[in-house]
Amino acid sequence: MVHARSRRSVLAVPGSSRKMIEKAKGLPADEVFLDLEDAVAPIAKAQARSEIVDALNSDGWGGQIKVVRVNDWTTEWTYADVVEVVSGAGANLDAILLPKVTEAAHVQALDLLLTQVEKANGLEVGRIGIEAQIENALGLTNIDAIATASPRVQTLVFGPADFMASINMRTLVVGEQPDGYDTGDAYHHILMTILMAARAHGLEAIDGPYLQIRDVEAFRRAAGRTAALGFDGKWVLHPTQIDAANEAFSPRQADYDRAEMILDAYEFHTSAAGGGRGAAMLGDEMIDEASAKMAQVIAGKGRAAGMARTMRFDPESP
Ligand code: GLV
Ligand code: MG
Repeated sequence: MVHARSRRSVLAVPGSSRKMIEKAKGLPADEVFLDLEDAVAPIAKAQARSEIVDALNSDGWGGQIKVVRVNDWTTEWTYADVVEVVSGAGANLDAILLPKVTEAAHVQALDLLLTQVEKANGLEVGRIGIEAQIENALGLTNIDAIATASPRVQTLVFGPADFMASINMRTLVVGEQPDGYDTGDAYHHILMTILMAARAHGLEAIDGPYLQIRDVEAFRRAAGRTAALGFDGKWVLHPTQIDAANEAFSPRQADYDRAEMILDAYEFHTSAAGGGRGAAMLGDEMIDEASAKMAQVIAGKGRAAGMARTMRFDPESP
């Protein structure tokens, strides 16, 4: 299922950098997440929490989905991250990104804590979503339980750097194939497992970062691969990667136009006015219920991305 708002580009911003947060407000990323985890040094975490609260409550944001990545449940920081950020800025926050999720209990614990903090602060209970980062073998093994652990879960996110470390993959270049593996894609199983769980449970599947930020063409190739599989978006670490991500995860204009035409034509032909037919011709192609379903996916992504159609279906000359 495609949600109403797209997450083609998910910009990572260190929560300790007011300057970078200010800059992020004006960038065309679909989502911005302010990080309290790996981009913030342990001694800077407490200060970063209050920076994040101020930033979320300040003016100047565009329409980005606003998310905070808290620390994982094995640290001593998670509860205070959630309590401080949600008490201070819960009304201006769309979701919490939870890293290193290995079991459903991690999601349930966050759900319970969020509910308390929402109640205590007069916030709508259940509005703040959860994005679950899958970053090791155990998380991948338990992915269905994680995906269904709370109705707050909105996305499943691949964390390639931690994942590669956790399975002893022999490479240091995040996003590229490990040296010595010269057949296929070393990430295929992980990516497909995340995608299957997302599709099985109506969530979005988000690819992780590409760390060589100067090589935009390489980013474009990496994003193009996961977009082709069916992923909804990818992290971006630098403004130069944003346009490439938005492009890779949007339908092409011709595909979007065609999808909207198929939906209109299908609606017309199945209606009484159109003869109540289940299968009909659109140009040279036969369309039916299954074509309409595929078109719905592409049209949904295009609408969520704010695309405008450039062609109309004409029932007079279908
Ligand atoms: C992101 O968190 C990663 O580990 O790649
Ligand atoms: Mg990580």
